[in-house]
Amino acid sequence: MFNIVKILLVGSGAREHALLRALIAGGDEVVVAPGNVGMTEAAARFPLNVSDGQAIADLAETESVDLVVIGPELPLVNGAADAVRARGIACFGPSAEAALLEGSKAFAKQVMAAAGVPTAMARVCTNQTEVESALDAFGPPFVVKDDGLAGGKGVVVTDDRRIAGEHAAVCLQRHGEAAVVIEEYLDGPEVSLFAITDGVTVVPLQPAQDYKRLGDGDAGPNTGGMGAYSPLPWAPEGLVDDIVARVIQPTIDRMRLDGVPFAGLLYAGLALTSRGLRVVEFNARFGDPETQAVLARLESPLGPLLFAAATGTLAEVAPPRWSNDAAVVVVLAAANYPQAPRLGDEVCGVEQADALVDVAVLHAGTEVADGRLLSAGGRVLTVVGCGANLSDARERAYAALDHITLADSQFRRDIALNKD
Ligand code: AMP
Ligand code: GLY
Repeated sequence: MFNIVKILLVGSGAREHALLRALIAGGDEVVVAPGNVGMTEAAARFPLNVSDGQAIADLAETESVDLVVIGPELPLVNGAADAVRARGIACFGPSAEAALLEGSKAFAKQVMAAAGVPTAMARVCTNQTEVESALDAFGPPFVVKDDGLAGGKGVVVTDDRRIAGEHAAVCLQRHGEAAVVIEEYLDGPEVSLFAITDGVTVVPLQPAQDYKRLGDGDAGPNTGGMGAYSPLPWAPEGLVDDIVARVIQPTIDRMRLDGVPFAGLLYAGLALTSRGLRVVEFNARFGDPETQAVLARLESPLGPLLFAAATGTLAEVAPPRWSNDAAVVVVLAAANYPQAPRLGDEVCGVEQADALVDVAVLHAGTEVADGRLLSAGGRVLTVVGCGANLSDARERAYAALDHITLADSQFRRDIALNKD
């Protein structure tokens, strides 16, 4: 098997912190750009504007890396993977064209229709008249989605017709060529399944569940994700095989046959509805915070899988091995997240928390100033607890959070509660 010498990891969130730890545990040398303060000891960090694909390609060249791994969606949709590959360097991440599976919900719906993949019925609207008629057609609860990337804030699910209409109006005004997707409401628990693919072969990772709403009991606004856990003891037998057979493989095959091969990570967000499984959304990259839970359970090296996906050789690589242990991830968010997170508050107790057995504290929105750790983003840290089952893992994660202080911070207290 190819011996990876050096990887450039692009991104700065807790997802990238988890990716870094997994890559290093597998024996790879990693440099990060821009990374975060939690990564400083493990990897050289380079400043970088992640939305600049040429700058990513330049750095990959000057650092002589063998593989670039792109974490966030924005550079992918902007063509960063294409820019890297144009320099003859392997890149884990789809082309700009293929990343439209995440970058345009209307495009994703087209692909799903062509591939026969089950998803919510939807209408793509380009003006308010179409919006009103779609809202009439589907009825409450209303589901209104910005067609384009919106950093986890593009979707509103509400019983309030006025709020639904207003959100649609905002989405329509946001971009030049605006579209908004109005769709059928899907009931049932949600599952996130990630699959690594080279455009032909599909390797599913372990499923996880994400908590998108800000507050306990799913109250409050949608966020980037407030917590996650894996495995899902309540999931039906054969769920992963079913999702691969009915969702992931048909989508990957369709994209390839349409001349837009998707290589990288396909993230399927699914609802297990009373009428069977349905795709809620596709993303073109690892999810945050599910990645922190999933990778905590990975026992085999991550680098060779990503390299094989990037070079069309995934069929030759042994499948990943997983721990039977559970992982629970709780996100610590700043005051006023997600609307207008307050920054610059001191964060204390991270070292004590991180030193606990079976706990890892991953950084996201943090910075160091005058030797103090300060909040510098909406999602500040994620705390990962591992244990023999979800209850144990949960206990460890919350015990670790007890050591961390951040003024007016927010976290959910019900992550993985009663899921054993
Ligand atoms: P998305 O960005 O499409 O994943 O949507 C964010 C969140 O909104 C999802 O994780 C769901 O919790 C919720 N959501 C999206 N679409 C639907 C739907 N059709 N029915 C019910 N909830 C949805
Ligand atoms: N956890 C949701 C996302 O990564 O989009």
